[in-house]
Amino acid sequence: MVLMLSPKETKLRFRWMLDKDRDRVLEIEREVFRYPYSSEEFDDLLATGRLRGATALVAELDSIVVGYFIYHTVSETIEIISIAIDNDNKRRGIGSQFINRMIEAKRGIDIRYFEVRCAEVNLDSQLFFSAMGFKAVAVLPNFYGDDMSAYLFEYKIEYQE
Ligand SMILES: CC(C)(COP(=O)(O)OP(=O)(O)OC[C@H]1O[C@@H](n2cnc3c(N)ncnc32)[C@H](O)[C@@H]1OP(=O)(O)O)[C@@H](O)C(=O)NCCC(=O)NCCS
Repeated sequence: MVLMLSPKETKLRFRWMLDKDRDRVLEIEREVFRYPYSSEEFDDLLATGRLRGATALVAELDSIVVGYFIYHTVSETIEIISIAIDNDNKRRGIGSQFINRMIEAKRGIDIRYFEVRCAEVNLDSQLFFSAMGFKAVAVLPNFYGDDMSAYLFEYKIEYQE
């Protein structure tokens, strides 16, 4: 997937999420999700600035955080906990950059799969992960509570030697 920012907007960078990013990340969370994490739930996830056993990255465009990506690794699988791009910067290739950079970063480290759970009502996320080559492999009834199921999407990483 090619990054689609125009030449004068090339100051996109990816870095670890820091404590100072908390408010902005929560702002994006509330902007884009119908059922966002509360700040307490988010703080629990982000205890001491790092997710317990997980990793959080942000994308910065011209020094403004425009998206984040939270994942953890279980055996040979990367489980995507959350990925979000703010509304002004969707469909500019930033979400796919997170995924593609992760695949490259894990080259040769015995990571074979990505997994992500998408709420059944979140068609945008399903279309995004489908476009990235993920396959829906299971339905998880009531995963997000009563009457809110999820689809489990999986991606098998194939490295070209
Ligand atoms: C899902 C999300 C992270 C995608 O990020 P993004 O930076 O907008 O995605 P990209 O620009 O990299 O899109 C890559 C491809 O995915 C597909 N895609 C992405 N969003 C899409 C949408 N809303 N409708 C249809 N296809 C979509 C397209 O094929 C797109 O390529 P194209 O723009 O050349 O057609 C973003 O829409 C978002 O933050 N959504 C709200 C939060 C969310 O639902 N997160 C997922 C939780 S499981």
